[in-house]
Amino acid sequence: MLPRGIYLDGNSLGPLSYAAQSAIERRLKQWQYKGVAAWDEWFELAERLNPALAKLIGAKPNEVITTGSITSNLHALLATFYKPTEKRKNLLATSLDFPSDLYALRAWADRYGGKLNLIPSQDGHTLEPHDIEAALTEDIAVAVLPTVLYRSGQVLDWAAITQLGQSKSIIMGWDAAHSIGALPHQFHQEAIDFAVWCTYKYLNAGPGAPGGLFIHERHHHLKPGLPGWWGNDKASQFEMAAEFRPANHAGAHQISTPSILALAGLEGSLAIFEELTIEAIRERSLKLTDYLIGLADTILPDMPVRSPRGRAQRGGHVVLEHPEAKLLSLALRSKHIIPDYREPNLLRLAPVALYNTETELDQTVQTLRELLNNGSYKAFSVNQKVS
Ligand SMILES: Cc1ncc(COP(=O)(O)O)c(C=O)c1O
Repeated sequence: MLPRGIYLDGNSLGPLSYAAQSAIERRLKQWQYKGVAAWDEWFELAERLNPALAKLIGAKPNEVITTGSITSNLHALLATFYKPTEKRKNLLATSLDFPSDLYALRAWADRYGGKLNLIPSQDGHTLEPHDIEAALTEDIAVAVLPTVLYRSGQVLDWAAITQLGQSKSIIMGWDAAHSIGALPHQFHQEAIDFAVWCTYKYLNAGPGAPGGLFIHERHHHLKPGLPGWWGNDKASQFEMAAEFRPANHAGAHQISTPSILALAGLEGSLAIFEELTIEAIRERSLKLTDYLIGLADTILPDMPVRSPRGRAQRGGHVVLEHPEAKLLSLALRSKHIIPDYREPNLLRLAPVALYNTETELDQTVQTLRELLNNGSYKAFSVNQKVS
């Protein structure tokens, strides 16, 4: 059930599937007919999604949970993992991070008199391995890095970087917003300390659908830094004890009552991922991004590709640069081609394995060529909003 036209923005908001729609309708009906009695079935709904989610992230089911949002989960996990000492009180992120991660990390560093160090970028689009390595120093308590950079789509080698960081006793956390549902992960085997993600991008769970987190089982003894009753051991949650008794799995880091209707969107969309393998999804995605890069190189030399060209370094989207990318994205939308725009000059195109085709990419690139040739895109206003 795709929005009208060509939808290339699934890395921002994935489209609605029939499976998600019917799961939401089913939960809505339960609310309608059963009212509060439906909580019997809903009580452990988030936990029931764990096996499907665990497959996508390469974890044991008890190492993941659907809850919160990327930013709120990041705050919660920093409250758990960030234990600053005089010698080790700084945090590490990258200069190309999504800003919300930086806001959260900086707030925690400020609270404890630490600094937030940022890995520099030489070209403004990507990060170099030697800059990452140089930033993993012994004053860093926790590093939170993106698995895939949100602008250029560069994949960071999270397993190797985790090993490097942990060899300096740094807690290594990852923001997997742009890799979950698009790339395979092996977070358990790779011994990642913790990770956060959202489900509204490649997982197609719906606008503002709940996020998720991974905590390696070796950390399950840690007391949640931001406890709430939903993280209590399920068997005793309704005893309403004054004392918090955390669940003995990642679910201990839930805080509040989940939105069942929002969880239902994920429940439905995960069923689609259960029918496929993430490796097959990744292979199809790479074919589509290879194809798009080839088209852009030959037909759009005035819009250079700023995503990495190596398959292992490229995520699920391709970014093209143009000084008037904003106007071009508005012009494309007016022709029912939905791209994504990122300030100040980037057009992001995500050909998603589950629903995009090579023909759609031909049409998109041809339309961009025509717009650039005839200049009609200049009639749009830079003051118009593009989300
Ligand atoms: C890489 C990345 N991190 C963090 C966020 C913020 O997510 P949330 O609104 O779920 O906190 C986003 C949102 O798109 C994102 O792309």
